[in-house]
Amino acid sequence: MNLTLKIWRQAGPDEKGKFVNYPISDISPDCSFLEMMDILNEQLIAKGEEPVAFDHDCREGICGMCSMYINGRPHGPDSAITTCQLHMRKFKDRDTITIEPWRAKPFPVIKDLIVDRSSFDEIIQAGGFISVNTLGTLPDANAIPIPKQNADLAMDAASCIGCGACVAACKNASAMLFVSAKISQLALLPQGKAEAKKRVQKMVAKMDELGFGNCTNTYACEAECPKEIKVTNIARMNREFFVAKVCVPKME
Ligand code: SF4
Ligand code: FES
Repeated sequence: MNLTLKIWRQAGPDEKGKFVNYPISDISPDCSFLEMMDILNEQLIAKGEEPVAFDHDCREGICGMCSMYINGRPHGPDSAITTCQLHMRKFKDRDTITIEPWRAKPFPVIKDLIVDRSSFDEIIQAGGFISVNTLGTLPDANAIPIPKQNADLAMDAASCIGCGACVAACKNASAMLFVSAKISQLALLPQGKAEAKKRVQKMVAKMDELGFGNCTNTYACEAECPKEIKVTNIARMNREFFVAKVCVPKME
């Protein structure tokens, strides 16, 4: 395949960015999208040019690093996959492919296609955990009975990989799908109940403080999530938040 790559280039967080066109030829349809980016970078390096900076790690759809906007969609034209699982057969010969970083104020561009998603870490640090006493004899986690439906829902929520596509897809840059998945995976299980009320208040407060927008029910997040996290998690988070506000008026 012969293609034109229209790529956002930005030298640093405070630099002005612009699109640059790169022709690339002889790309196999069986090539992965990131392999195609590797080929481009090898060619740029051979010519003495600056390679395109992009995030990646596992290349197996599990780490959430490969955040890219491809032809106007987070993670590209396929559904329920990450950029690293996208293959060039999804494009046509002579296509122009537009590649951009996530566009959201709480995800500032570091360089080219790499954005700073440490705001997600801050939200998790605010309450996305359980406190466990490790002294003495602890009951085996598997010994605690959990209704099958709750276990399934918690596992579904836990499949969120923190990629940020939901934020990038949302016109409000809302992080509610991500935050609600992280709240749900704990709120649905007995181990997460003890701190549930404080957790939801702290995580929502941190999300607001970091500048993420509100949900206005466009469902763009659910449509673009590579792990098919459902907006029903947002409804659960809102219920948890309401109960927490009524029962625990003040955060510690
Ligand atoms: S909810 Fe989906 S889109 Fe959002 S961070 Fe998690 S996996 Fe990515
Ligand atoms: S590189 Fe890990 S999910 Fe894509």
